[in-house]
Amino acid sequence: MATERTFSIIKPDATRRNLTGAVTKMLEDAGLRVVASKRIHMTQEQAEGFYAVHKERPFFGELVSFMISGPVVVQVLEGENAMARNREVMGATNPANADAGTIRKELAESIEANTVHGSDSLENAAIEIAYFFKPEEIVG
Ligand code: TYD
Repeated sequence: MATERTFSIIKPDATRRNLTGAVTKMLEDAGLRVVASKRIHMTQEQAEGFYAVHKERPFFGELVSFMISGPVVVQVLEGENAMARNREVMGATNPANADAGTIRKELAESIEANTVHGSDSLENAAIEIAYFFKPEEIVG
């Protein structure tokens, strides 16, 4: 299996509850290495651009409002099979459907305030990493 990089966001519900460390520990315990990290407060334009793929979905407006409701921590995660491994430790989108031991099952509040984002393909990972990080900000 190849070493990959994927993109993660610790969402505002988690920063609000001071869970940045708890989420990061679960990612690290899953074998992922944080090779870039910064705490930012997204602008509306940034959040709309990031979630542009969902702009026709009924939840788009609320999703954007939620994502700009507080600071987030954007991260690049590296490891063997990092994209799938991160999706696995995140758990299902709706925490009610997530497996025990996953971040969303243990920590998420709702389908919207679901604690973490993780890229769903390697292609999207590359796009999302480039959306927030310059190459020199990633230190492997
Ligand atoms: P999606 O890409 O389907 O899920 P995932 O984050 O697991 O890849 O949706 C993106 C985000 O949109 C999701 O994390 C939370 C939000 N969302 C809602 O608020 N309501 C919904 O019904 C869905 C499907 C998603």
